[in-house]
Amino acid sequence: MSPTAKHVNHELSPMRCPVTLDDVDLFGEGAQEHWYEAYEILHREEPVYRIEGGGLTPGTDAYVITKHADLLRIVRDPERYISLTQTRITAIADQDMSPEEAYETHHNLMQASMVSLRPTQELYIRHRKELTDPWVGTGALRHREMIERHANELLDKWIDSDEVEFISQFARPLPQHVFASILGFPHEDIPQLAEWGDAAVTPFVHGTGLRHEMTPEQAEEMIARLDGFQDYIYDHVTAKRRDPQDDMVSFLCDVHYEALDRKLTDLEIAGIVHAMILGGLETTQYALEEQAQLLCENPGMFDLLRNDRSKLRAFTEEGMRMRAPTHGLSTRMTSQDEVFQGVTVPKGSLLHLRFGAANVDEEEFECPHELDLDRDAVTRHVAFSAGPRVCPGANLSRIEQQVGWGVLLDRLESIEYGDDNTWLHQPGIMLGTLKLNLRFEKAADPLDLGTGRGKKRS
Ligand code: HEM
Repeated sequence: MSPTAKHVNHELSPMRCPVTLDDVDLFGEGAQEHWYEAYEILHREEPVYRIEGGGLTPGTDAYVITKHADLLRIVRDPERYISLTQTRITAIADQDMSPEEAYETHHNLMQASMVSLRPTQELYIRHRKELTDPWVGTGALRHREMIERHANELLDKWIDSDEVEFISQFARPLPQHVFASILGFPHEDIPQLAEWGDAAVTPFVHGTGLRHEMTPEQAEEMIARLDGFQDYIYDHVTAKRRDPQDDMVSFLCDVHYEALDRKLTDLEIAGIVHAMILGGLETTQYALEEQAQLLCENPGMFDLLRNDRSKLRAFTEEGMRMRAPTHGLSTRMTSQDEVFQGVTVPKGSLLHLRFGAANVDEEEFECPHELDLDRDAVTRHVAFSAGPRVCPGANLSRIEQQVGWGVLLDRLESIEYGDDNTWLHQPGIMLGTLKLNLRFEKAADPLDLGTGRGKKRS
């Protein structure tokens, strides 16, 4: 049994803990509670795991990729291993629709703006470089102080008690506030934005199987819950075109997109905002929440980090390696016959990328279930994927996690598990616990309060 898994989870899951390859089911009800045990079996017995009939077209199969080296090979070569989203968007583009028509008919895809914005790899890279990097990629450092402020404000609300439900009081609202500030949306709109964010991730939470398929009812409900989101963004775009502020939406309204030698349309801006909200809220929430659990499970770690902030970056990276938020988020299609780990994978197969499994591959990471702050090249995990399609918000999330923990370490003396935790993870293909009660001691003498960077104690 993997040392990372809490025994209690096995008792709560409706699914039996896998013992042999035949028991492995990564997608059934309660599978999340056994993912790490399943990965151990897959790594040992079938690291390229065939799901018969799991491909996109009848007679084709899907393959679950669990090894770090295979996963890197795939994500680094987007021409050879084609993104499923890209395939769908190309299919829409091939129908000769305008982006507006495509949005009307396929708006559950919601990245309809990509029809005009990123049909090729080159445009995809320029989209990132010119449009998102300045705010959530290379330019994300500028948000440090804003993130510290939000983290401190959240902490102010519960610092004088001795127990907190960490997800609803910190891990979830921090990225929400950060996003509202970056996009330039009023903070009082956060409950509504959160509802739209939750609706947008419906396929990843409530979809089934490796393609996150929704029933027609689920799709309808998702569209109904998203009602008003597009108009909300358009209203802000109109207001910011009139009266620009220092925020990402104003930037997108004004920027001359060199790749297409023109400005962006409202629909394109809405597509980018939607992608940011879809990608950036729950993921960082799960990272923070799993890191809190790692601190509870590793006695001495909280104190060590309090006293030596130079280790904080390694801690957050190890946290994302050991408990990746994104276990089965991405898929690719093979454009030719391939061989992985001696297994022949025919052209036209679906590759289901298991970032969480690759991150605990023993061949890449010695003692993968140990939280090792001195691990070589601590960022070589693939929680954010890698290659040209690596997560565009990775930098922002890394800063949110480091600043968030910096503030918590400044103002808290210790944390431990509180009472009444259910330990259960949400369904779907992300790793996120639903509730996390923590008991904590407030620091008698807060360290370097307000900077989040802390002082190295002597
Ligand atoms: C711990 C936090 C996060 C994790 C683990 C994570 C992970 C990932 C992964 C694995 C992918 C898929 C890449 C691929 O298929 O190769 C992805 C895509 C994406 N992420 Fe993140 N992400 C995080 C935070 C964020 C944030 C903060 C943002 C926004 C600022 C964001 C925006 C996106 C977007 C827009 C995509 C889709 C890119 C595309 O169209 O290819 N993510 N992320």
